Amino acid sequence: MGKERLDKVLSNMGYGTRKEVKALVKRGEVTINGVKVKDSAQHVLPETDAIIISGEKLLYRKFVYIMMNKPGGVISATEDNYEETVIDLLSDELKIFEPAPVGRLDKDTEGLLLITNDGELNHLLLSPKRHVPKKYYARIEGTVVEEDIIKFKEGVVLDDGYKTMPAELHIINSGENSEIEVILFEGKFHQVKRMFEAVGKKVIFLKRIEMGPLKLDKSLKTGDSRELTEEELEMLKVAVGK
Ligand code: URA
Repeated sequence: MGKERLDKVLSNMGYGTRKEVKALVKRGEVTINGVKVKDSAQHVLPETDAIIISGEKLLYRKFVYIMMNKPGGVISATEDNYEETVIDLLSDELKIFEPAPVGRLDKDTEGLLLITNDGELNHLLLSPKRHVPKKYYARIEGTVVEEDIIKFKEGVVLDDGYKTMPAELHIINSGENSEIEVILFEGKFHQVKRMFEAVGKKVIFLKRIEMGPLKLDKSLKTGDSRELTEEELEMLKVAVGK
């Protein structure tokens, strides 16, 4: 990334409007590489210059990559007039990057949701060509049997006539209610729920636990989120060939 106007950079990073940034500069609160700034329109290299605002070093980044443990009851959208969205749950420091969820989880689905303002990565992860695997844990009303594993492996026909790609089903517990894990390599609307409907069963709880190389951080309580580690981000980029 090349040079950018200082007021634009600081404004994007949440230090106020350009006018407010101008006032900060005027009060002598901003230094670049140790030199006090006089003009807020000055150009800077935001990634390499040492920019200090009121004694605090600017940690510049263009993109944010957030892992959320989505709770039930919120929708996977950036804004909505009536419903609470996953973005509403983020801290103000992260909201200023204007990130968006990568794909959707249903309102009542919990678990791993990636949220980013990196449009290219978002697009690559969702591309039907890449078949990024997604792993879910679910509780099912009804007895899940070996035959369901075979049916999922062969692909099941959904209510709209679509035949799914092979999916990997693992039974954790089988009884009146069952517990399973399933890995999908595509992402059709309500896919897990509709696949179980296709074999005469009902999903009563659904949680995504993995997406490509990303595993839901077990220490994240539902509704909490954190930025990806460098290692997680690297694995994700490798997985989509970025
Ligand atoms: N499949 C579903 O049915 N719902 C989700 O939220 C994700 C996958």
